[in-house]
Amino acid sequence: MLEDYQKKIIDLLCKQELLLAKLYEIFADQFPEHKDFWQDLAKDEQQHAGWIKKLYLAEEEDLVAFSEGKFNPSAMNIYIENLEKTIRRAENKEINLKMAIASTLDFERSLIEKNVFSHFEIIDEKLSGIMTKLESETRRHLKKAEDMMTRFR
Ligand SMILES: [Fe+2]
Repeated sequence: MLEDYQKKIIDLLCKQELLLAKLYEIFADQFPEHKDFWQDLAKDEQQHAGWIKKLYLAEEEDLVAFSEGKFNPSAMNIYIENLEKTIRRAENKEINLKMAIASTLDFERSLIEKNVFSHFEIIDEKLSGIMTKLESETRRHLKKAEDMMTRFR
């Protein structure tokens, strides 16, 4: 059985990854000259959401998969609100290429700085690699966004 706080964490993590995917899809459409860059990121975020959903397995298998640690739902809600706001602005075509790269960099960096993926103690063996993978994938995204940014300085 998962506790309510654990379900909330999974829901928020999943929502965050899906919103990142959505934002990057919009950027891929709006900036065809860098379509591959954003489409690759979007594809990754979709995959990450799939990994996070595996944490729900803890429910089915009657395991307590992770503990809350320093997880901060209100910080996560703010992050999600910012993402939603940026998605609306992107849909309204209020974001140019340079701003799009800067916000990609900000969103990826913020996940690393807030240690979003390392605040959990995962007890279940099958699930223990998920957060580690998410952390290293996000670092990779940050690096990609930084490289892209240097091309526009
Ligand atoms: Fe990412």
